Amino acid sequence: MYLDSAATALKPQTVIDAEKKYLEQYSSNVGRGLYPLAETATEKFEAVREKIARFIGAADTQEIIFTSGTTASINLAAGLLAESVHPADNIVVTEMEHHSNYLPWKELAKKCGASFHVIPITGEGAIDIATLKNSIDERTKIAAFSAVSNVLGTINPVEKFVAAIKGINPQTLVLVDAAQAAPHMRIDVSLWRADFVAFSGHKMFGPTGVGVLYGKAALLETFPPIVFGGGMVFDACAEDTRYREIPYRFEAGTPNIGGVIALGAALDYIENIGFTNIRAYETALTAYAQKRLQETFDDAIRIIGPKDTKDRGGIIAFSLKNIHPHDIAQLLGEQNICVRAGEHCAAPLHRRFGLSATTRLSLSIYNSEEDIEKLITALKEIQKIFSVA
Ligand code: ALA
Repeated sequence: MYLDSAATALKPQTVIDAEKKYLEQYSSNVGRGLYPLAETATEKFEAVREKIARFIGAADTQEIIFTSGTTASINLAAGLLAESVHPADNIVVTEMEHHSNYLPWKELAKKCGASFHVIPITGEGAIDIATLKNSIDERTKIAAFSAVSNVLGTINPVEKFVAAIKGINPQTLVLVDAAQAAPHMRIDVSLWRADFVAFSGHKMFGPTGVGVLYGKAALLETFPPIVFGGGMVFDACAEDTRYREIPYRFEAGTPNIGGVIALGAALDYIENIGFTNIRAYETALTAYAQKRLQETFDDAIRIIGPKDTKDRGGIIAFSLKNIHPHDIAQLLGEQNICVRAGEHCAAPLHRRFGLSATTRLSLSIYNSEEDIEKLITALKEIQKIFSVA
């Protein structure tokens, strides 16, 4: 029973078939070969770029950079911005960030001698808009936050936050980590108005090793490449180099071609179900899980994050009195119940709640109320074992 979709989602057959078909029938490189096989691969690869642009409401395919995942996307954005950050500047993140949207900015601030500010979160695991506004000033170069927390499940009002940040300092560049939002709700960059948006393919039913960095075209145009190699250059000689247009000058080397093509199939899979249905189903299931966990374990359970299901995605991190999350995850694992335990790559967040670890279940459209009941039965057994010990 799989309850770890925030780590990676299970893959539909159509996604597996799309990657297999590429590998078996037209495996060749993209953007280089002039023979039909390579032209087919290039067409299918670029068609996914178009599909992604439409999927997230981007104005142009030039705004879609393929990467290996969210971590690579955020590191790329931080790398592109390295020359623009100065000692008088500050970089702002939130206390709920995954390390992938925390460490690249902390390191960038350190490298540039800039200040690094972490916006505190509330006891319910939310970001208070007044606190957010107080954290932005005329020296804020970059503000980075997640659309959905990978631990708390908190859904941040991205549009409102971006507007608030830009309202105080229109020059502040905003990056949204949408890794945990992309599989569950519509990303609309035309509404969000963030400068960068990062997400991974594998959490949205696609393969691992493929992700996207969306960047506003006018902004991307201002950056030179930072990774060099094949595919990103028109012409090179000892005296001069002419780099390609965006987004290609940020995609040096052979990309994950089969992965991108399979991600296209994952987007079709999502569109066929529809975000309205996905969100409605997952919200009902999350509410059910919250209610059943709370009423079953009462004072012995501590669920962190928003109480109201409408403010959260299908991620529930909890601690059970006197039982270490690693023991819970291991014993559940022995029954083939897959949950994650630990800090979930979010140490500052756990510190905020005085916890060293939590057990996390994360739901998707293939989960059911029956799964929740099985989990609860197993947790009750674990509780019994530890009460005897
Ligand atoms: N970022 C993934 C998670 O939260 C791996 O589990």
